[in-house]
Amino acid sequence: MQSDVVVITGAAGNLGSAVVKELAARGVRLVCLERNAATLDTLAAGLPAGTEVLKLPGVDLMDFDACRNAIAAAEARFGAIHALVNTVGGFHMGPVGESGLSEWDSLMALNARTAYSISAAVLPAMQKAGYGRIVHVAAAPGLKAGARQAAYAASKAAVIRLTEAIALENRAHKITANCILPGTIDTPQNRAAMPDAKPDSFVPAGSIAKLIAYLVSAEAGVVTGAAIHATGS
Ligand SMILES: NC(=O)c1ccc[n+]([C@@H]2O[C@H](COP(=O)([O-])OP(=O)(O)OC[C@H]3O[C@@H](n4cnc5c(N)ncnc54)[C@H](OP(=O)(O)O)[C@@H]3O)[C@@H](O)[C@H]2O)c1
Repeated sequence: MQSDVVVITGAAGNLGSAVVKELAARGVRLVCLERNAATLDTLAAGLPAGTEVLKLPGVDLMDFDACRNAIAAAEARFGAIHALVNTVGGFHMGPVGESGLSEWDSLMALNARTAYSISAAVLPAMQKAGYGRIVHVAAAPGLKAGARQAAYAASKAAVIRLTEAIALENRAHKITANCILPGTIDTPQNRAAMPDAKPDSFVPAGSIAKLIAYLVSAEAGVVTGAAIHATGS
């Protein structure tokens, strides 16, 4: 089986759009989930002619029913879903203290709940098919927190643990689950936040996208349950 129908969440984000472009160049049929319809339209308009893409705007990954409906729409359009690349997530820093409680809740929802919801929504289709590839995006603080990173680190640790459990639960279904731990990605936001950083200290989103393209391929079946650092260039 080839992975030729791939669901990408956060499709118009920095990493998500790089994944979309990489997979489109490989002739993959794309299911793009993105909250913002306008940015999704712009992304899709720039893809190579002939790219088959189902645009699903306005899907909030914190909402399980919305995830399930999106997966149902993808199955209705393409008849199968071979892979999920979930790039939804975000970052915030702050010390542990009373004022950090809302940050804890919001980052656990933004990074961990979203990954759980879209995984739970897509797994039945993959289990039925006896094939699947799932890639989440965690981060190195999910392995060891730094100062002012408690909520972010815990939420990304949850993504790593979720990935490991999915991998073990789905071995017999030939579904792999892995997550990426990117270094600081070369994004407009990171360049603006770190104007003195050397450009080559950032990781190009396109390089991470190539790693993800491998992990969702049929050839990558031997890799599962892994948290893979992506810090080079
Ligand atoms: N950037 C880095 O340096 C870096 C480093 C390590 C790990 N990471 C991780 O890598 C991933 C991608 O990062 P990025 O820089 O590409 O982020 P990004 O550009 O901010 O993209 C994140 C995407 O997630 C979407 N999103 C957020 N909340 C959502 C929700 N509840 N439901 C549906 N979509 C939602 C955003 O949509 P909206 O535009 O509508 O908000 C956006 O499309 C994230 O998981 C991030 O934590 C990033």
